[in-house]
Amino acid sequence: MASWDPGQYARFADERARPFHELVGRIPTTAPVAVVDLGCGPGTLTATLATRYPDAAVLGIDSSPQMLAAAAPLATPQLSFQLGDIAGWRPQRGSVDVIVANASLQWVPDHAALLPVLAAGLDDGGTLAFQVPTGGPILDADILDPGVPGPRGATPVREPAWYVRTLAALGLTVDAWETTYFHVLPGDDPVLEWFSGTGLRPYLDALSGAELDDFRARVAARLRDRYPREPFGTILPFPRLFVVAHRP
Ligand SMILES: C[S@@+](CC[C@H](N)C(=O)[O-])C[C@H]1O[C@@H](n2cnc3c(N)ncnc32)[C@H](O)[C@@H]1O
Repeated sequence: MASWDPGQYARFADERARPFHELVGRIPTTAPVAVVDLGCGPGTLTATLATRYPDAAVLGIDSSPQMLAAAAPLATPQLSFQLGDIAGWRPQRGSVDVIVANASLQWVPDHAALLPVLAAGLDDGGTLAFQVPTGGPILDADILDPGVPGPRGATPVREPAWYVRTLAALGLTVDAWETTYFHVLPGDDPVLEWFSGTGLRPYLDALSGAELDDFRARVAARLRDRYPREPFGTILPFPRLFVVAHRP
């Protein structure tokens, strides 16, 4: 599994936080008592769930020890963090009021197997809310070298209508939408910097030394062509799918 660097991830924190807040803003569940954040990362956004739901026990789960180490200082009696794999997480039936997964389910295979588990974990009135990227350079075969090992263009993310149908069939009321953000990023090679903190990690981890330097240089050059620097910064169009599924 690719390692995560919380420091690198924290760059562009504002851009990464916005979809989280727009997702959570659509959750209809009021006064939850059990809230889980799947793929909680460094825990900063999980902590906002504890503030938003002051009467809830909030649990962040992540498979990265590095991310959990960054999250640990944020823990309180109300807010805890746990090492775990989303794919293996088995909530007790009806035991959770709100499940949030922001920018994490794209790392989890087989959404057809995953969604029934998450839906079954929801209590009546509960909500599953997730957001996944649906495009961008990491899914673009022309940006990455054919020979470099990694997931390539493969993504477990399905079509939006598939999520609506699948979750409706599980008895949930679904609110789904897509948004493309046009981020304006500062500095040199900001698109490379952005994805070095997320989608490029499996590729960067697979290489070392001169091979790694060469790979980064080639990807950087292609990204500069695709996303040129302009006087005000570099525009990164970033499409994302949001799904908020509520158990009536
Ligand atoms: C892009 S970050 C998102 C972090 C946080 N949700 C946020 O919005 O800032 C993706 C996170 O998902 C975690 N992750 C990836 N695959 C996972 C899995 N199978 N189980 C648990 N966590 C996973 C990574 O360790 C990483 O912290």
